[in-house]
Amino acid sequence: MKMKTVKVGRNDLCPCGSGLKFKKCCLSKSETEAEDFEATYVRKYNIRLKKAADIEGIRKAGRLVLDTLDLVESEIKPGITTDELNTLAHEFTVKNGATPAPLNYRGFPKSICVSINEVICHGIPGNRVIKDDDIVNVDITSILDGYYADANKTFFAGAPPGPDARKIVDIARECLRRGMSAVKPGNTIGDIGWAIQTYAEARGCSVVREFVGHGVGFGFHEAPQVPHFGHKGTGIGLIPGMVFTIEPMINLGKKDLRILDDNWTAVTKDGLLSAQFEQTVLVTENGVESLTPYE
Ligand code: MF3
Ligand code: CO
Ligand code: CO
Repeated sequence: MKMKTVKVGRNDLCPCGSGLKFKKCCLSKSETEAEDFEATYVRKYNIRLKKAADIEGIRKAGRLVLDTLDLVESEIKPGITTDELNTLAHEFTVKNGATPAPLNYRGFPKSICVSINEVICHGIPGNRVIKDDDIVNVDITSILDGYYADANKTFFAGAPPGPDARKIVDIARECLRRGMSAVKPGNTIGDIGWAIQTYAEARGCSVVREFVGHGVGFGFHEAPQVPHFGHKGTGIGLIPGMVFTIEPMINLGKKDLRILDDNWTAVTKDGLLSAQFEQTVLVTENGVESLTPYE
């Protein structure tokens, strides 16, 4: 999702969902009032924790997302267009009783994102033809029984990949793994970003700043934001029941990006390769569980 800072004004609707103005609701509650974690996370951060039934719903949506990714992967080959991949994913999603979340989301015109080579994210499927040496990211978010799951992978179009393609895809995959390994109660959002940023930058790569992971499950993009850069021990503390994505976008060159005239496609300014992997994860009592598990 796009990085943004949210400030709740006194006269805005309260983030706790009461429907009251902020000043008439949580703003007026004493900071010293004893509250359980759930109330605090909703009131302070607008984070909606997930219960067992919600988690099962997101897990089911996640299984469908992974099956859809597998289906698309099986058709990625030189000569196919990104729109053909979109149609495949769309039809499979609908056939399974789900809805593709991207379609018409803030005006996005297609059902999946397909981001090739220098495209960082939010590539719009169209008539671009996949070539032998392309790296192709496919990002799928499906809504099943009201629950959202979000995952992506970067694939090689043909074989074998060159050294740059191999390098950036391997590093992006490892960045997601390391970010996920930082997820456990007692750690913070900043620990996730730190794990990713230090690994990528030590290898001469860079981390995109403008797009971040995000809470997910009841909606497409919920609180909190999950930057893929940061400092150990900073940011919101992780507690069981939080569900969010980790989706590092790692560039072979510089971190800078620009947005194409379609207002969606983000590309590296230097034209060098970018790769990404994404999973939807749950904070458990002991650590982390992926609700879109792969690898
Ligand atoms: N799936 C993307 C993410 O990981 C969001 C895509 S927004 C869209 O957050 F509108 F482009 F679909
Ligand atoms: Co996402
Ligand atoms: Co996604």
